[in-house]
Amino acid sequence: MGATEQPFITKYPTAVPAMGDGPLPVAPYISREFFEREREKVFKRAWLEVARAEDIPNPGDYRVVDIEVLGWSLILTRGEDGQLRGFHNICTHRGNKVAQQKAGNARGFTCGFHGWVFGNDGELKYMAGEEYFPPGTDRCKLGLKPVTLDTWNGFVFIHPQAEPAQTLREFLGGMADQLDPFPFDRCTRIARYEATPRANWKVVLDAFQEAFHAIMVHRASLPKSAAAAPNPSAALTSARFHGPHRSLSAWANPDYRPPEVGMIVGKYGPTFATAKDQFPGINPNRDENWWFDINVVFPNFFCDTGPGWYFTYNFWPISENRTRWTMDIYQLKAEHAGGLLAQEHTKILLRDAVLEDFSTLEATQQMMETGVLTHITISELEIALRHQMHIIDQWLAA
Ligand code: FES
Ligand SMILES: [Fe+2]
Repeated sequence: MGATEQPFITKYPTAVPAMGDGPLPVAPYISREFFEREREKVFKRAWLEVARAEDIPNPGDYRVVDIEVLGWSLILTRGEDGQLRGFHNICTHRGNKVAQQKAGNARGFTCGFHGWVFGNDGELKYMAGEEYFPPGTDRCKLGLKPVTLDTWNGFVFIHPQAEPAQTLREFLGGMADQLDPFPFDRCTRIARYEATPRANWKVVLDAFQEAFHAIMVHRASLPKSAAAAPNPSAALTSARFHGPHRSLSAWANPDYRPPEVGMIVGKYGPTFATAKDQFPGINPNRDENWWFDINVVFPNFFCDTGPGWYFTYNFWPISENRTRWTMDIYQLKAEHAGGLLAQEHTKILLRDAVLEDFSTLEATQQMMETGVLTHITISELEIALRHQMHIIDQWLAA
C-alpha cells in the first residue's frame, strides 16, 4: 500500500474490551508453570465441547472421550430412555476403566477386572461377589460417576465442575445468539482430520484466528482469494466480542475466480471456495465481500461457518508444548451426485489449507522456546490473539 492509501477498515459492531496495544509476552506459550495454571483456572472451570450428539444417535450408542488436560476418560452414552449422559470411565470397585472400545452400542459396560456390570444409565446392575462386601455396602450408591453435560445445537459440552457457575447457554451468551439460526441439523460430517503438533495449544489456536497469514501461508491453496487490493493484508471485515468468545468475519476478494474445477463444482453445491452470503446464521454484520465467519468459543473450540457448511476445531492441550488438534468438516447433506462432488471439493481444499497452516507451528514453538524473544508484536489484524490472552489473564486472576 502506498503512503497515501487508506488501510482497509475492520468494523467492530460490539464494544471492544480495553486490552491495551502492547506486545504479548512469550512466557504463556512456553512455560510449564503457566500451563499448569491454565489447567487449574481455565480448563477446570469452562464448558468444553467434546462431541456432536449425532455421533451418539441411538439408545445404547456410546463414545469414549479422552481429555488429556484434565487427565480424564469419559463415556458419553445414550440410555434406553433416549437421554444422553456422561460418566467417568472408571469402575467404582477398584478403579479399572470400564469401557475398553472407543465407541459402540451396548446395554451396559462390564468391567474387565472382576465383572461388575453398569447399565448405560450408569447404575451398577450386577455386583460380582456382592455377598462378600461388608454390610452396608450399597450397590445403589456405586453407579458410574456422572459428569456435568449439556448440549447446544447438537454440540455436546461437558463441565469439569458438578455445579458450574453458569449454564452452558449463559456461558455461550452472544455467541449462541449469533449462531442459533444456522441449520446445524441439516449438515453432515464429511471429514475429520487430526494432528498432534509439538506446539503450545495457543500457538496452534492463534494460527487459525487471523486471516493476515493468508498472504503467505495460503498463497498456494487460496491465492488472491483472501488478500488483494484494496485489502492486501487480509484485514477482517468485522469482529465481534461476546464475553470470552469472539467472532471474526474474513474478507473475500470479489475479483477472485477459483480454478475452473471450483467454479464447476460450485454450481452443484456449497463449497469453501464460494462466498455467497445468503444463508441463515452467517455474516452477522452484513459485510460486503464477506467470505466466512471464524467463531471462537473460549477456551479451545472453533465453529467456523459459511453458506452451507461449517467446520470445527478443538485444540486440546497435552502439555505446554504438545497439542491434540482435531478438525471436523460438515456440509449440507447431498441431495444428488453434484452435492457429493461439492463435499469432496470442500474436504480437499480445506485439507490443503490446514496443511499449510501447520507449516509454521512447530518452528514457531521451537524458536519461542529459545528465549530470544520475550514478547511478540501484535497488529490490529491479530486482535483475536490479544483478546484470547486478555481473557486467559482474567480467568487466571479470578
Ligand atoms: S475394578 Fe471393576 S470389577 Fe473390580
Ligand atoms: Fe490459515
